[in-house]
Amino acid sequence: MRHFLDLSDAGTADIQAMLDDAVARKSARIGWPKGKADADAPLAGHVLAMIFEKNSTRTRVSFDMAIRQLGGTSIVMDAGSMQLGRGESIADTARVLSGYVDAIMIRTDDHAKVVEMAKHASVPVINGLTDASHPCQIMADLLTILESGRTLPGLKVAWLGDGNNVLASIMEAGGLLGFDVVAACPQGFQPSDADVARGRGRARVVGTASEAAEGADVIVTDTWISMGQPHADTKLAAMMPFQVDEALMAQANPGAAFLHCLPAHRGEEVVDAVIDGPQSLIWPEAENRLHAQKAVLRWCFGQLG
Ligand code: CP
Ligand code: NVA
Repeated sequence: MRHFLDLSDAGTADIQAMLDDAVARKSARIGWPKGKADADAPLAGHVLAMIFEKNSTRTRVSFDMAIRQLGGTSIVMDAGSMQLGRGESIADTARVLSGYVDAIMIRTDDHAKVVEMAKHASVPVINGLTDASHPCQIMADLLTILESGRTLPGLKVAWLGDGNNVLASIMEAGGLLGFDVVAACPQGFQPSDADVARGRGRARVVGTASEAAEGADVIVTDTWISMGQPHADTKLAAMMPFQVDEALMAQANPGAAFLHCLPAHRGEEVVDAVIDGPQSLIWPEAENRLHAQKAVLRWCFGQLG
């Protein structure tokens, strides 16, 4: 049984196989209607159930389209309208859904729930974002970096702002694929030692935005207030020195790419001139959720890696 709870569940070689497949399938689809299945329909007849405890635009739509393009179908559920929302356990939900569908994707507030789902499901379980990590997003980010003509080993990726779930997965990716992740986060909002350790010696935390940006090939940021976190003016104030603006981009390597998983809070973690500027890859990054997740789905069913 293959679960995709974090990037390390797949490992270096299988991530590379997924990225190769994403590149190939994406190029093969040019000019096709988006709802039409790929010619080989490799997951024909497969049904993906998706459970959302938190809001989503990209993850919801890209997974739905991904399974369709692979020849399968999806069932999308908000946790609040399921019996899960009235206290049915994750374990029982996993056992019941395993009898109906071929794979389960869940977005939840607590990473332990994804682990619990995988423990009791007899079908693959995919992490569609938890408080701890967002591996599907980083698959899309890796694909976007590759498409920009860069090779991953030896890159310097700079993270600015909150030491959150997305950063944890980027650090894990750096450890698996051999690139450095330098995170500039204010005191009190830095990633845990355990998250830095996911970088296998390639991830580190610095105290100023300049230190991270200097010589970076890719600049990444994310919302300062993640879903489920309290809105705090004190946090926003602490984050301001880590805002990605044109001056910060100028400290990175010439032509450095800008990534953001979206949704963005313009004027907070990034200014319009950067997110809408020539170095921003946010739209291909968002589209690549679709292409990367098709590969994740195929991997879960043993078709890749
Ligand atoms: N980046 C991302 O996961 O977006 P959604 O919250 O819209 O799914
Ligand atoms: N860090 C953000 C990512 C949203 C896609 C959050 O968890 O809300």
